[in-house]
Amino acid sequence: MLRILKGNDYGDMSRIAANVIFAQITMKPDSVLGLATGSTPIGAYEQLIKYYEKGNLDFSHVTSVNLDEYRGLDEASDQSYRYFMNKHLFEHVNINMEETNVPDGKEPDAAKECLRYDNLIENLGGIDLQLLGLGNNGHIGFNEPGQVFEKGTHCVDLAESTIEANSRFFNSIDEVPTQAYTMGIGNIMSAGKILIVVSGEGKADIVKKAFFGPITPQVPASILQLHKDVILVGDEAALSKI
Ligand code: F6R
Repeated sequence: MLRILKGNDYGDMSRIAANVIFAQITMKPDSVLGLATGSTPIGAYEQLIKYYEKGNLDFSHVTSVNLDEYRGLDEASDQSYRYFMNKHLFEHVNINMEETNVPDGKEPDAAKECLRYDNLIENLGGIDLQLLGLGNNGHIGFNEPGQVFEKGTHCVDLAESTIEANSRFFNSIDEVPTQAYTMGIGNIMSAGKILIVVSGEGKADIVKKAFFGPITPQVPASILQLHKDVILVGDEAALSKI
């Protein structure tokens, strides 16, 4: 089932998304949260930090598993997703750092790292709430458009459009890694609940395609139409075409 929650603007939609996560942790303090990087969730993370600072939110029993990491970057690199998570959330709340998980971009053996990550998620008993952003090309995590929905954690070659979109975080496009480790569609679809955040008119077309178009691996997010509990949170611009 899909529920759509609309915020007036980015700040409003970020508060709505943060409240869903707030509610999840309140209901189940030892939740396993699947987390995402990218621009869109930053406002929600800021709001969660505010709730924590006011004493209303306790992360001490939460475990997190992030969707993805660039292959080749280690956590000291300020472009890595581990660095992003530390900076935008983990360092500001009382989550136990040892209970935060991001694929290890420095592990050169892709098969080994992907298996480790799948086992980790399984041993945690699965993900209670998975936060997602939506790529311009319909990707979720780094599951890029392709011929099949890949099930487990895998190593991907990033699409040219993704490398281009993400070059805004690097000094030049040549510095953007071309591969990443990402949870698969199976990992994501096994989550109890999915919260997907979208912002800006640049996402309006892909939101329509993903949630109201055909279910196809060419639009990886379209598989979310088959999930039993999805909350799509967007601002007016991103939801303007649905
Ligand atoms: C991030 C991730 C990506 C982003 C997507 C949207 O961990 O896996 O799928 O969620 O690229 O990014 P933004 O929010 O920057 O538009």
